[in-house]
Amino acid sequence: MSIDAKRRQLLRLGTAGALLAALPQVPHADTGHVHVEPAKANPDFHPDLELELAAGPGEKALLPGRATRLWQFSGRVLKGDAAQLAMLPGDVLPVIRARNRQKIRIHFVNHLPEESIVHWHGLHIPQKMDGHPMYAIRPGARFVYEFQIDNRAGTYWFHPHPHGRTGEQVYRGLAGALIVSDEEEQAVGLPAGKRDLTWVIQDRTFDRDNQLVYARGMMDRMMGFLGDRILVNGRPDFVQSVATTAYRVRLLNGSNSRIYKLARDDGKPLTVIGNDGGLLEKPLQKAYVTLAPAERVELWMDFSDRSVGDRIRLRSLPFNAGMGMGMGMMGGAALPNGSDFNVLTMQIDRKVSARSRLPATLTRIPRYRLQDAVNRNAPRTFAPWMGRGTVTLNGRSFDKMDEVADNEIVKLDTLEVWELANDQSMMMMAHPMHIHNLQFQVIERKPDPRFAAAYQTLSGGFVDEGWKDVVLVMPGERVKLLMKFTDHTGLSLYHCHILEHEDLGMMRNYLVRA
Ligand code: C2O
Ligand code: CU
Ligand code: CU
Repeated sequence: MSIDAKRRQLLRLGTAGALLAALPQVPHADTGHVHVEPAKANPDFHPDLELELAAGPGEKALLPGRATRLWQFSGRVLKGDAAQLAMLPGDVLPVIRARNRQKIRIHFVNHLPEESIVHWHGLHIPQKMDGHPMYAIRPGARFVYEFQIDNRAGTYWFHPHPHGRTGEQVYRGLAGALIVSDEEEQAVGLPAGKRDLTWVIQDRTFDRDNQLVYARGMMDRMMGFLGDRILVNGRPDFVQSVATTAYRVRLLNGSNSRIYKLARDDGKPLTVIGNDGGLLEKPLQKAYVTLAPAERVELWMDFSDRSVGDRIRLRSLPFNAGMGMGMGMMGGAALPNGSDFNVLTMQIDRKVSARSRLPATLTRIPRYRLQDAVNRNAPRTFAPWMGRGTVTLNGRSFDKMDEVADNEIVKLDTLEVWELANDQSMMMMAHPMHIHNLQFQVIERKPDPRFAAAYQTLSGGFVDEGWKDVVLVMPGERVKLLMKFTDHTGLSLYHCHILEHEDLGMMRNYLVRA
């Protein structure tokens, strides 16, 4: 059945039926795929680091009993420092470490039984290198990425981005951290090496055979898929052994749709030193940190006042996600958003005398000013919308790979204000909105008084300071961002990072024109 026929059928079912009816499994099946030749190696590009990165089936023993079948990235360094590609502790997810300005060539090989392409989340790179779904390659094919890192030191990441399949591919195991360093950051003198930790938090559901279970129906997809087991770096019941000293901890929410309200179980606050686009100007003390899908946060964690044998848990505290709005849409998740659970355990297992002092200043961040925005009096408004079995952005879906509407065309080298307006939807829920290819600044939040109670359970944990590429927009809320379009013309994406929403079409192109 074509999508149009399906839509007509959904309309006939009426609202309640339509909300529950299943959309086609692969929404882009007949949306006119733009076919683009995969990029090949350019002999005039001289990489500092050259990698082969393959995505393919594998398995890992994650739970007692049978091994879990996964889709995994694996790779090797062809040129450069072999330590730049490693596995995160847990040995499930990879990490690429690079310095700003390094030239990188990555031979991506698709060993999956379906199309894929890799997106470098947070990086500022040309259109063809960004993993736009129009570049998805077939099983067995290769795509050669070549780009120069042009980002501040920070915690970025990579994951597949084929249209309609991103959620499932990430869920099956395809994700990795991409850590960029630079001289400015090095001069700050933060804990490094073994005292620089990365924790990727994800949620999964396993069946009785230890195999992954993904979204079963339209309800799971509309609400966003929620697993009932928490994994860190791909492992359940993650224990991090630490010494009595200070650590830099990078947290990435790699979950498809879960929001975490992170806090220590010993009542001590969290000290935030960075977020999506790198270090903040100065450390912030927070009772808890809210981490929405794809967001990153960096913490300073000092265990020097603890004794060997102590355990501290990182928990996710209860909150009210403000979902549903009387629609009975809480969904059937075994561990709903806003549940109270352990994320991981920090086990203090050795004494060391090394002391580090938290720097009072970390960096300087030039502030964009609203008065400098070309559209300061007329922000572009983008409204996520859900209802009747569909999700859209400004009433449009991701129907064509290269489509842009008039209000999605911006000019190179201009500063703009965008307003994300989550107050127009038929079904209300929080959406973590992501913009490709740039880091923006959050300048204003206008919460909705109707959802004030829900808002207040999470807003104390927002880290809106610094550079961001994802921002959680709460039900009814309007959030204003300032962003600049520099260096690269061409198509880019903006979308909800609830991966099921992205796959259903809460994603659009924007075009940067010279
Ligand atoms: Cu992390 Cu377009 O995504
Ligand atoms: Cu991205
Ligand atoms: Cu969404």
